[in-house]
Amino acid sequence: MMMLAVTINGHAHGPTEVRDDLTMNDFLREHLGMTGTKFGCGAAQCLSCAVIVDDPDGTSYTRPTCIVAATEFNGKAIRTVEGHAKDGQLSSLQKSFVEHFAFQCGYCTAGFLNEGQVLLERLAKAPVPRAELENTIAEAFDGHLCRCTGYIKYHQAVRDVVLAEAHRYLK
Ligand code: FES
Ligand code: FES
Repeated sequence: MMMLAVTINGHAHGPTEVRDDLTMNDFLREHLGMTGTKFGCGAAQCLSCAVIVDDPDGTSYTRPTCIVAATEFNGKAIRTVEGHAKDGQLSSLQKSFVEHFAFQCGYCTAGFLNEGQVLLERLAKAPVPRAELENTIAEAFDGHLCRCTGYIKYHQAVRDVVLAEAHRYLK
């Protein structure tokens, strides 16, 4: 057993004692009832289980949870799909996913949403030229698998959010 303290969507959880082999996916879904984070391949191959990790230096990135021990997130701040909507309002990216009918079964959606959000925040800090946008989105989503093949719609949904606020995300 080990102690785990983690901040999730701005709320502190723990310290609580957890099994050494408990995955972060099981901690979120089974211990906290946060089932928005999915379990797909269980082999770090599809990223449907990815959450956002926010480092103290201001950098954010996604990380799978399916085969990663919960204790590896000890002391970290993470964001899950449950944290995107504020005051009952979907985020711009969530709205765009809906408007584009980007998902069918929705199993991969939390992972794409988290990755897209990280990308938007990165672009806000380091805008790219319009000519690089398509590759930038494609590279960000590389590794995320959608068995319903919604890739183009996810891509278009992110692009729309970027272009709607081009002054913020593009240079
Ligand atoms: S379920 Fe974690 S990468 Fe597929
Ligand atoms: S919407 Fe079904 S796996 Fe992506």
